[in-house]
Amino acid sequence: MKVLVVGASRGIGLEFVRQFAADGAAVTASARDEAGRARLAAVGARAIALDVADAASAASLAWQLEGEAFDLALVCAGVYGPRTQALDVPSQADFDRVMHTNVLGAMRVLPQLAELLAPGAKLAVLSSRMGSIGARGSATGWLYRASKAALNSVLADAARVLQGRAVCVALHPGWVRTDMGGAGADLDVAASVAAMRRMLAALTPAGHGAFFDHDGTPIPW
Ligand SMILES: NC(=O)c1ccc[n+]([C@@H]2O[C@H](COP(=O)([O-])OP(=O)(O)OC[C@H]3O[C@@H](n4cnc5c(N)ncnc54)[C@H](OP(=O)(O)O)[C@@H]3O)[C@@H](O)[C@H]2O)c1
Repeated sequence: MKVLVVGASRGIGLEFVRQFAADGAAVTASARDEAGRARLAAVGARAIALDVADAASAASLAWQLEGEAFDLALVCAGVYGPRTQALDVPSQADFDRVMHTNVLGAMRVLPQLAELLAPGAKLAVLSSRMGSIGARGSATGWLYRASKAALNSVLADAARVLQGRAVCVALHPGWVRTDMGGAGADLDVAASVAAMRRMLAALTPAGHGAFFDHDGTPIPW
């Protein structure tokens, strides 16, 4: 099995790499800096450099991986931005950083991934339940929420274009103890990733274009 993980220097992406490599998959994964790429190499992955928020770097994905055909591609790169409680106006810099990473980054990467997938491959973006409008119960982190709602829209369009070529989903990993999720989060990163791997293994074309929790429960858009 050939797996590609975009945004894997640490956290959930790195744990996907660790678990798939331990199971014998051929894993390619990206990190922005040398230290991240060293962590990927240490767990047995082929490491490439990629910054999804940088146009030139993001555009290099296709040529760095030319000729590859992945069975599974995961887009994990993401930032949270300001930890707001209410309707705090984001700075231009915060808005650009969050939207460029979480939305524009996916819009740069997904078209290239379309050319790098094996027939019948699976493709997942790491979204968040916080991006759901239908399941919303709070307004904390409204910039992050807006970015993940936009990412969900991007995934829905990618799913339309890739219909019949790849099974595409948006995934919520749970609230996970990583740098982003913090020490008080519900789930250990290993448990979150193990659950998402089970969910992805069981995913069929019937789930194409949908939004799922880490345990496979559908989430409303
Ligand atoms: N943790 C949670 O509770 C939780 C809940 C819902 C959704 N998620 C989503 O799950 C994904 C992974 O989250 P995490 O908890 O693992 O976060 P994390 O520990 O903060 O890791 C974020 C990852 O994204 C990478 N990244 C950030 N900006 C990037 C860019 N411009 N180009 C390429 N890579 C970039 C980081 O690389 P660097 O090391 O180079 O910064 C790092 O590898 C994110 O999309 C997040 O929104 C997480």
